[in-house]
Amino acid sequence: MSNKDHWEKIYSTKEIDGVSWYQETPITSLNIIKALKLNLNASIIDVGAGKSFLADTLLNWGYNDITVLDISGNALNEVARRVAKENHKIKCIESNVTDLSSDQKYDVWHDRAVFHFITNNQEREKYLSLLNSSLNKEGYLIIGTFSEDGPLKCSGLDVQRYSIKELRELLKENFKFIDGFKEIHNTPFNTTQSFTFCTFKKIN
Ligand SMILES: C[S@@+](CC[C@H](N)C(=O)[O-])C[C@H]1O[C@@H](n2cnc3c(N)ncnc32)[C@H](O)[C@@H]1O
Repeated sequence: MSNKDHWEKIYSTKEIDGVSWYQETPITSLNIIKALKLNLNASIIDVGAGKSFLADTLLNWGYNDITVLDISGNALNEVARRVAKENHKIKCIESNVTDLSSDQKYDVWHDRAVFHFITNNQEREKYLSLLNSSLNKEGYLIIGTFSEDGPLKCSGLDVQRYSIKELRELLKENFKFIDGFKEIHNTPFNTTQSFTFCTFKKIN
């Protein structure tokens, strides 16, 4: 099964809160974004957004340039439907993140639980190169991955786990480290997953 088919199947067969990564409110990401004190015109892309409520909340806060990208059209349709009900506009990009082709540059690139699925070196290089070319200088990267003691798999797929140190090392050429911490995510199944969250600022 292709990667796309895998994710489309998940989103068409499971309830929104029937997946381990579900959050009623993505509070950690929202707190990080709030602390950046961005202008409400800041362009923010949520990469691998799934059905996350991050975009809904940012739009409710008054941000007006929000893009959600996901390999699953099914997930994006759900987010688009929800925000349309609130009369908000959102840009949707249905694509593999490593094939992203957009003329727009962003002030914030947010990724919760997507980068860790990219276990192939070549794909990882593509992701990093696109991240670099898609972010404005002085733009922010907010990244949440499974941590060094996090799960080895998610949704039946292998993942690459990262410590704060490893993320810093991987990004050091073009990004200044701002903050990092580990967080325990409580899944809807009463299990826990250890995450690494880091914020970086693009310097090159
Ligand atoms: C674990 S979920 C996290 C969803 C969301 N970020 C959240 O925190 O609720 C991973 C998401 O990444 C998407 N995804 C996986 N691989 C992808 C890829 N290569 N390109 C774009 N999206 C991808 C999946 O469809 C899924 O929505």
